[in-house]
Amino acid sequence: MSLKIVGTGKGIPARSVTNQELSDFLDTSDEWIVSRTGIKSRNICSHETLSDLSAAAARQALEKSHLLANEIDLIICSTIEGDFRTPSLACCLSHDLGTMCPAFDVNAGCTGFIYALEVASSFLAAKKANNILIVCAEMMSTHMDWTDRNTCVLFGDGAAACVVTNGNALKYLDLSVTANPAVLNIPSGTGNNPFVSKPRENGFVNMRGQDVFKFAVGAVETGLKQALHALNVSTEQIDLFLLHQANKRIVDSIRTKLQQPEEKFPINIERYGNLSSASIPLLLFELLEENKIKSGDTLFMSAFGAGLTTGNCVMVWE
Ligand code: ACO
Repeated sequence: MSLKIVGTGKGIPARSVTNQELSDFLDTSDEWIVSRTGIKSRNICSHETLSDLSAAAARQALEKSHLLANEIDLIICSTIEGDFRTPSLACCLSHDLGTMCPAFDVNAGCTGFIYALEVASSFLAAKKANNILIVCAEMMSTHMDWTDRNTCVLFGDGAAACVVTNGNALKYLDLSVTANPAVLNIPSGTGNNPFVSKPRENGFVNMRGQDVFKFAVGAVETGLKQALHALNVSTEQIDLFLLHQANKRIVDSIRTKLQQPEEKFPINIERYGNLSSASIPLLLFELLEENKIKSGDTLFMSAFGAGLTTGNCVMVWE
């Protein structure tokens, strides 16, 4: 049993923050950030909650799918942390939408969208659901040390959603973990347990940037090779490569190795920064809005993130 995407949506905070604004309080510059990452600005929550962004993205995806909220049989949210540790973001969204179907979160770091697609595909195959709402929503700004120029310039806040149903678009999906929590993590933060003698770490992103960079390039290449082999197709037969938007240089170096034209590797990182699991579905939303995806196009989607997780899938658009 396969699936197809029938509608997409986005929820982006109103406040856009330029590199110049960051350089007002950080030892950084627009020139450094653009040349090392491709990022020019990102949107950061000022008054919005993650539930607000999720609901906006979900409502738009439902509208484009011509479905009502009560026709959804399952809600899957991908997030590294919702507005509450519990209840899940999916439960908060269910409250906003007024649904009563099952709802839960998945956390696979930046790979969460591909993981959510796999879960959705399993529910469809088991005939446990017909219409599934996937919402990827991340408020990375709350996980940043805003005095650490190595990390805080890289990320943004935002949500993207899609509705999936039975169909034949999904041709291949593969997930994996190469476990190495030390390379990229966010500690749970400090509790006030009186039985813990030494203070725990703060709750900010720790990242070995160059290790992530190398892992990402290798993981996408390997994932693509495996997908092409499984489907017996060539790199040239992929029309669009939708890669996790972590750094433009990662996308460029993969494209250069594959010797494929630039137009096959759409990017939007310059406007949003790294939105973790929301990055691929947001890119998908924008490409559909711009009529850059047509029926029959073959899409390769590839993500990598904390874990380290990876996920790759191929869809022939319906
Ligand atoms: N502004 C100015 N200078 C900076 C900044 C900044 N914002 N950040 C770091 N620097 C400095 C460093 O301090 C260092 O200075 P030094 O040489 O005096 O020590 C210098 O720039 C070079 O730093 P590097 O870490 O070598 O820079 P690099 O070219 O590797 O770029 C980056 C760093 C952008 C993090 C890169 O390694 C990268 O993109 N890695 C991939 C990781 C990633 O994208 N993570 C996103 C989240 S993970 C995910 O989505 C799965």
